[in-house]
Amino acid sequence: MIENATKGLLEGRRLLLGIAGGIAACKAVDYSRKLKALGAELFIVLTQNAARFVTPLSVAALTSSSVHLDMFEPDSSSAMLHIELARKADLFCILPATANTLAKVACGLADDLLSTLCLSHGRPILLFPSMNPVMWQNPVVQANVRRLKDVGHRVITPAYGETACGECGEGRLPDWPVVREAVLKALTPQTLRDINILISAGPTREPIDPVRFISNRSSGRMGYALAQEAARRGAEVTLVSGPVSLEPPPGVHVVSVETASQMQNAMQTLAQEARIIVMTAAVSDYAPIVTAQQKLKKTFETLHLELQRNPDILTGLTSSCRPNQFIVGFCAETEALREHALQKFKAKGVHLLVANDVSQKDAGFDVETNRVLLLWSERPREQSGPSLRQEEIVVKELPLLPKDRVAQAIWDKVEQLAGL
Ligand SMILES: Cc1cc2nc3c(=O)[nH]c(=O)nc-3n(C[C@H](O)[C@H](O)[C@H](O)COP(=O)(O)O)c2cc1C
Repeated sequence: MIENATKGLLEGRRLLLGIAGGIAACKAVDYSRKLKALGAELFIVLTQNAARFVTPLSVAALTSSSVHLDMFEPDSSSAMLHIELARKADLFCILPATANTLAKVACGLADDLLSTLCLSHGRPILLFPSMNPVMWQNPVVQANVRRLKDVGHRVITPAYGETACGECGEGRLPDWPVVREAVLKALTPQTLRDINILISAGPTREPIDPVRFISNRSSGRMGYALAQEAARRGAEVTLVSGPVSLEPPPGVHVVSVETASQMQNAMQTLAQEARIIVMTAAVSDYAPIVTAQQKLKKTFETLHLELQRNPDILTGLTSSCRPNQFIVGFCAETEALREHALQKFKAKGVHLLVANDVSQKDAGFDVETNRVLLLWSERPREQSGPSLRQEEIVVKELPLLPKDRVAQAIWDKVEQLAGL
């Protein structure tokens, strides 16, 4: 899902990609193709040793990109490749960064095209080290990593797991979603840097017996897209998620819950630290009063389930809202969207309400696109409520968009309304 959703996110971006001579150079070719598929224009530089693992011809053919190895290329269109490429790039990544290349960059050596570019680029570089776990733990490598961070470069810690040499430990090149998010984050203005954001997502499940439950069609996609976009903008994000089949977004802390009451407990506790709360979860309004201890048998022709109202989590959060807190609510309707949204905006005491019609095929639950209304008021939240006149509520309709674009529009609005 994220893959389709992120399509085009690197449109118009120019990436300078250095590939050093480690075993993960082979994986780097696949990742280059994926970066390209997101819309990036790539300029690839291999070290001489990287060319022992992957050939410049295969890299060029597989990525449809220019590939360079030699600073002194005789037929180069530019005599100063080490300056030209550095100037062109919006972002410079080295993937994989070998222990050798880390050391060279840390001490400013410039004895080949890649290391010289590291000096002429003059801006932070995004490095993805990958090596044998013992090499990675070597105090000299760690000292080089500290030095690189001290001078402003971003070094992504390798993943834990089995490495090519058969050892298990920290040293693997991270999986694609981690790499993708590190690149997108490096290219995104950090407008939510270090802001603590709490988001709820997905459905809840209210158990009838040990094998059955009441739930709804929420896929969690909208909440996950909001969490991912906030993390890209530098926020510290906690996502309280009902049961969904989505991968946890990289860089986001996920708290898994099942029932409305578990979600309420988690949200209330975590809300104490949150500057911004976004309640996208589709919480079951009702739950069975009694949960059968054993699976119900089909003994009777009819079966009556007695349900009771679940707590209204959003109202609980808005009623204990702190002065510096900003709360976003969502409403899902199947008819009269605008009227219901206006009523809900007055009733809930949120700063921003996002309303969507979940009866449509291309919007709302379980699809990758959404069409939403944003509602807010210029009046301070404390003075709003049922007395708010209709003309004091602003309603903005967004067109049908992929959920990650809807998430961007929502965060742009939140940043503006919250004065961030
Ligand atoms: C089969 C093989 C695999 C290697 N894999 C790695 C690796 O994953 N990470 C690393 O730091 N060095 C690795 N090395 C060692 C580097 O190739 C060596 O340090 C080289 O000097 C790196 O050159 P470069 O940084 O200029 O590309 C490997 C060497 C061999 C022979």
